[in-house]
Amino acid sequence: MKIRVFENQLEAKTAAAEQIADSLDGNSAKLVCATGGTMVEFYREFCRTNQDRAIDLRGVRFFNLDEYYGIEMDPALPEGKDQSFARYLSDNLFRPLGIDVDSQVRLVPHREDGLEQYRTELACSGGELITILGIGKNGHIAFNEPGTMIEDSIRVVNLSEGTIIDNYKANFEAFGYSFDEMPRKACTIGPREILSSNRIIVLCFGKTKKHAFEQAVFGTIDASCPASYLQTHENVEWYVDSALLR
Ligand code: PGA
Repeated sequence: MKIRVFENQLEAKTAAAEQIADSLDGNSAKLVCATGGTMVEFYREFCRTNQDRAIDLRGVRFFNLDEYYGIEMDPALPEGKDQSFARYLSDNLFRPLGIDVDSQVRLVPHREDGLEQYRTELACSGGELITILGIGKNGHIAFNEPGTMIEDSIRVVNLSEGTIIDNYKANFEAFGYSFDEMPRKACTIGPREILSSNRIIVLCFGKTKKHAFEQAVFGTIDASCPASYLQTHENVEWYVDSALLR
Protein backbone atom coordinates (compact mmCIF):
# COMPACT_ATOMS: atom_id res chain seq x y z
CA MET A 1 0.00 0.00 0.00
CA LYS A 2 1.21 3.51 -0.78
CA ILE A 3 0.04 6.62 1.06
CA ARG A 4 0.64 9.88 -0.77
CA VAL A 5 0.28 12.94 1.38
CA PHE A 6 -0.40 16.37 -0.14
CA GLU A 7 -0.63 19.84 1.32
CA ASN A 8 -4.24 20.19 0.22
CA GLN A 9 -7.06 18.36 -1.56
CA LEU A 10 -6.62 20.07 -4.89
CA GLU A 11 -2.97 19.03 -5.16
CA ALA A 12 -3.88 15.45 -4.28
CA LYS A 13 -6.77 15.30 -6.74
CA THR A 14 -4.68 16.82 -9.51
CA ALA A 15 -1.87 14.31 -8.93
CA ALA A 16 -4.30 11.38 -8.89
CA ALA A 17 -6.08 12.63 -12.02
CA GLU A 18 -2.82 13.04 -13.92
CA GLN A 19 -1.55 9.65 -12.91
CA ILE A 20 -4.74 7.85 -13.90
CA ALA A 21 -5.12 9.74 -17.17
CA ASP A 22 -1.54 8.93 -18.19
CA SER A 23 -1.97 5.26 -17.39
CA LEU A 24 -5.19 5.07 -19.48
CA ASP A 25 -3.76 6.84 -22.52
CA GLY A 26 -4.18 4.61 -25.58
CA ASN A 27 -4.75 1.48 -23.47
CA SER A 28 -7.60 -0.93 -22.91
CA ALA A 29 -8.91 -0.58 -19.39
CA LYS A 30 -11.95 -0.77 -17.16
CA LEU A 31 -12.35 2.22 -14.89
CA VAL A 32 -14.76 1.82 -11.97
CA CYS A 33 -15.91 5.27 -10.92
CA ALA A 34 -17.03 6.45 -7.50
CA THR A 35 -19.31 9.42 -6.91
CA GLY A 36 -19.68 11.72 -3.88
CA GLY A 37 -18.57 15.20 -2.92
CA THR A 38 -14.87 14.32 -2.88
CA MET A 39 -14.96 13.21 -6.48
CA VAL A 40 -16.46 16.34 -8.07
CA GLU A 41 -13.18 18.25 -8.06
CA PHE A 42 -11.24 15.10 -8.92
CA TYR A 43 -13.33 14.58 -12.08
CA ARG A 44 -12.91 18.23 -12.98
CA GLU A 45 -9.13 17.78 -12.79
CA PHE A 46 -9.36 14.47 -14.63
CA CYS A 47 -11.33 16.07 -17.50
CA ARG A 48 -8.93 19.00 -17.64
CA THR A 49 -5.89 16.68 -17.76
CA ASN A 50 -7.47 14.56 -20.49
CA GLN A 51 -8.15 17.64 -22.59
CA ASP A 52 -4.78 19.31 -21.95
CA ARG A 53 -2.83 16.15 -22.77
CA ALA A 54 -5.18 14.89 -25.51
CA ILE A 55 -5.46 11.53 -23.71
CA ASP A 56 -6.86 8.72 -25.85
CA LEU A 57 -9.67 7.05 -23.87
CA ARG A 58 -11.12 5.05 -26.73
CA GLY A 59 -10.07 1.74 -25.16
CA VAL A 60 -11.59 2.52 -21.75
CA ARG A 61 -14.94 1.28 -20.45
CA PHE A 62 -16.41 3.19 -17.52
CA PHE A 63 -18.36 1.42 -14.75
CA ASN A 64 -20.61 2.88 -12.07
CA LEU A 65 -19.28 1.80 -8.68
CA ASP A 66 -22.71 1.96 -7.07
CA GLU A 67 -26.22 3.35 -7.52
CA TYR A 68 -29.34 4.08 -5.50
CA TYR A 69 -31.92 1.35 -5.84
CA GLY A 70 -34.97 2.31 -7.86
CA ILE A 71 -33.58 5.62 -9.14
CA GLU A 72 -32.92 5.86 -12.83
CA MET A 73 -31.23 8.69 -14.61
CA ASP A 74 -33.77 11.13 -16.05
CA PRO A 75 -32.08 13.70 -18.30
CA ALA A 76 -35.35 15.67 -18.40
CA LEU A 77 -34.97 16.55 -14.72
CA PRO A 78 -32.94 19.65 -13.81
CA GLU A 79 -29.51 19.16 -12.29
CA GLY A 80 -29.80 18.26 -8.60
CA LYS A 81 -33.34 16.91 -8.93
CA ASP A 82 -31.94 13.81 -10.59
CA GLN A 83 -29.85 12.29 -7.80
CA SER A 84 -28.91 9.10 -9.64
CA PHE A 85 -25.21 8.33 -9.72
CA ALA A 86 -25.59 7.71 -13.44
CA ARG A 87 -26.55 11.37 -13.83
CA TYR A 88 -23.68 12.45 -11.60
CA LEU A 89 -21.17 10.59 -13.76
CA SER A 90 -22.82 11.86 -16.90
CA ASP A 91 -22.62 15.50 -15.71
CA ASN A 92 -19.16 15.33 -14.15
CA LEU A 93 -17.32 12.91 -16.39
CA PHE A 94 -18.99 11.50 -19.49
CA ARG A 95 -20.46 14.62 -21.08
CA PRO A 96 -17.39 16.82 -20.46
CA LEU A 97 -15.18 14.12 -22.02
CA GLY A 98 -17.63 13.12 -24.77
CA ILE A 99 -17.66 9.47 -23.67
CA ASP A 100 -19.82 7.27 -25.87
CA VAL A 101 -22.86 5.63 -24.23
CA ASP A 102 -21.55 2.24 -25.37
CA SER A 103 -18.47 2.77 -23.20
CA GLN A 104 -20.56 3.32 -20.06
CA VAL A 105 -21.77 0.45 -17.92
CA ARG A 106 -24.46 1.39 -15.40
CA LEU A 107 -25.87 -0.47 -12.45
CA VAL A 108 -29.63 -0.88 -12.89
CA PRO A 109 -30.47 -3.43 -10.21
CA HIS A 110 -34.24 -3.05 -10.39
CA ARG A 111 -34.25 -4.16 -14.05
CA GLU A 112 -34.37 -7.84 -14.80
CA ASP A 113 -30.83 -9.08 -15.46
CA GLY A 114 -29.46 -5.63 -14.53
CA LEU A 115 -26.87 -7.04 -12.14
CA GLU A 116 -26.06 -10.05 -14.29
CA GLN A 117 -25.33 -7.83 -17.29
CA TYR A 118 -23.04 -5.64 -15.22
CA ARG A 119 -21.19 -8.69 -13.83
CA THR A 120 -20.68 -10.05 -17.32
CA GLU A 121 -19.40 -6.74 -18.66
CA LEU A 122 -17.00 -6.37 -15.76
CA ALA A 123 -15.66 -9.89 -16.22
CA CYS A 124 -15.47 -9.87 -20.02
CA SER A 125 -14.24 -6.41 -21.05
CA GLY A 126 -10.49 -6.33 -21.58
CA GLY A 127 -7.61 -4.49 -19.97
CA GLU A 128 -6.53 -3.46 -16.52
CA LEU A 129 -9.26 -3.01 -13.92
CA ILE A 130 -8.76 0.27 -12.04
CA THR A 131 -11.13 1.22 -9.22
CA ILE A 132 -11.41 4.74 -7.84
CA LEU A 133 -12.88 4.99 -4.36
CA GLY A 134 -13.88 7.50 -1.74
CA ILE A 135 -14.50 6.37 1.82
CA GLY A 136 -17.42 7.02 4.16
CA LYS A 137 -17.06 8.33 7.70
CA ASN A 138 -18.18 4.90 8.88
CA GLY A 139 -15.50 3.15 6.82
CA HIS A 140 -17.72 2.14 3.91
CA ILE A 141 -16.28 1.77 0.43
CA ALA A 142 -18.80 2.04 -2.37
CA PHE A 143 -22.03 1.15 -0.50
CA ASN A 144 -20.37 -1.67 1.42
CA GLU A 145 -21.47 -0.66 4.89
CA PRO A 146 -20.06 -1.99 8.19
CA GLY A 147 -21.10 -5.64 8.44
CA THR A 148 -20.11 -6.37 4.83
CA MET A 149 -18.07 -9.55 4.47
CA ILE A 150 -14.86 -9.58 2.43
CA GLU A 151 -16.26 -12.14 -0.02
CA ASP A 152 -19.49 -10.20 -0.68
CA SER A 153 -20.15 -9.50 -4.34
CA ILE A 154 -22.34 -7.15 -6.40
CA ARG A 155 -25.69 -6.95 -4.66
CA VAL A 156 -28.54 -4.83 -3.37
CA VAL A 157 -27.96 -3.53 0.17
CA ASN A 158 -29.75 -1.58 2.88
CA LEU A 159 -28.04 1.71 3.66
CA SER A 160 -27.07 2.55 7.23
CA GLU A 161 -28.89 5.40 8.97
CA GLY A 162 -25.62 7.38 9.14
CA THR A 163 -25.07 7.12 5.38
CA ILE A 164 -28.68 8.12 4.63
CA ILE A 165 -28.30 11.21 6.85
CA ASP A 166 -24.89 12.12 5.33
CA ASN A 167 -26.22 11.79 1.79
CA TYR A 168 -29.38 13.72 2.60
CA LYS A 169 -27.43 16.65 4.01
CA ALA A 170 -24.78 16.58 1.28
CA ASN A 171 -27.01 16.18 -1.76
CA PHE A 172 -30.77 15.84 -1.45
CA GLU A 173 -31.75 18.48 1.09
CA ALA A 174 -30.70 21.48 -1.01
CA PHE A 175 -32.91 20.31 -3.88
CA GLY A 176 -36.13 20.24 -1.90
CA TYR A 177 -36.31 16.54 -1.03
CA SER A 178 -37.75 15.54 2.32
CA PHE A 179 -35.85 13.03 4.44
CA ASP A 180 -38.68 10.50 3.92
CA GLU A 181 -37.95 10.51 0.20
CA MET A 182 -34.38 9.31 0.71
CA PRO A 183 -33.47 6.02 -0.97
CA ARG A 184 -32.83 3.45 1.72
CA LYS A 185 -31.47 0.79 -0.57
CA ALA A 186 -28.69 0.79 -3.09
CA CYS A 187 -26.77 -1.48 -5.35
CA THR A 188 -23.03 -1.76 -5.04
CA ILE A 189 -20.12 -3.75 -6.29
CA GLY A 190 -18.70 -5.77 -3.41
CA PRO A 191 -15.28 -6.15 -1.83
CA ARG A 192 -14.90 -9.20 -4.04
CA GLU A 193 -14.92 -7.10 -7.24
CA ILE A 194 -13.02 -4.20 -5.67
CA LEU A 195 -10.24 -6.54 -4.53
CA SER A 196 -10.10 -8.15 -7.97
CA SER A 197 -8.91 -4.78 -9.39
CA ASN A 198 -5.38 -4.47 -10.68
CA ARG A 199 -5.14 -1.03 -9.07
CA ILE A 200 -7.20 0.72 -6.42
CA ILE A 201 -7.01 4.47 -5.86
CA VAL A 202 -8.58 5.92 -2.74
CA LEU A 203 -9.17 9.63 -2.17
CA CYS A 204 -9.61 10.55 1.48
CA PHE A 205 -9.48 14.03 2.94
CA GLY A 206 -10.15 16.12 6.01
CA LYS A 207 -10.61 15.67 9.72
CA THR A 208 -14.04 14.04 9.38
CA LYS A 209 -12.47 11.03 7.64
CA LYS A 210 -9.53 10.66 10.07
CA HIS A 211 -11.06 7.89 12.16
CA ALA A 212 -12.17 5.88 9.12
CA PHE A 213 -8.74 6.32 7.52
CA GLU A 214 -6.90 5.13 10.64
CA GLN A 215 -9.16 2.10 10.98
CA ALA A 216 -8.83 1.32 7.28
CA VAL A 217 -5.06 1.57 7.12
CA PHE A 218 -3.83 0.61 10.59
CA GLY A 219 -6.81 -1.18 12.18
CA THR A 220 -7.84 -4.81 12.35
CA ILE A 221 -9.10 -6.20 9.06
CA ASP A 222 -12.75 -6.88 9.78
CA ALA A 223 -16.34 -6.08 8.87
CA SER A 224 -16.59 -3.13 11.28
CA CYS A 225 -14.62 -1.13 8.69
CA PRO A 226 -15.01 -2.53 5.16
CA ALA A 227 -12.23 -0.21 3.96
CA SER A 228 -9.82 -2.26 6.11
CA TYR A 229 -10.18 -5.04 3.50
CA LEU A 230 -8.01 -2.88 1.25
CA GLN A 231 -5.06 -3.89 3.44
CA THR A 232 -5.21 -7.29 1.76
CA HIS A 233 -4.58 -5.82 -1.71
CA GLU A 234 -1.06 -5.25 -2.95
CA ASN A 235 -1.69 -2.27 -5.21
CA VAL A 236 -3.65 0.36 -3.29
CA GLU A 237 -2.70 4.03 -3.45
CA TRP A 238 -4.18 6.41 -0.92
CA TYR A 239 -4.25 10.11 -1.82
CA VAL A 240 -4.69 12.12 1.38
CA ASP A 241 -4.23 15.68 2.60
CA SER A 242 -2.27 16.90 5.59
CA ALA A 243 -5.50 17.86 7.41
CA LEU A 244 -6.38 14.18 7.60
CA LEU A 245 -3.17 13.37 9.45
CA ARG A 246 -3.18 16.23 11.94
P1 PGA B 1 -17.99 11.93 0.04
O1 PGA B 1 -18.49 10.41 0.09
O2 PGA B 1 -16.99 12.03 -1.04
O3 PGA B 1 -19.23 12.71 -0.28
O4 PGA B 1 -17.41 12.25 1.38
C1 PGA B 1 -17.57 9.39 0.08
C2 PGA B 1 -18.26 8.08 0.34
O5 PGA B 1 -19.27 8.05 1.07
O6 PGA B 1 -17.81 7.06 -0.17
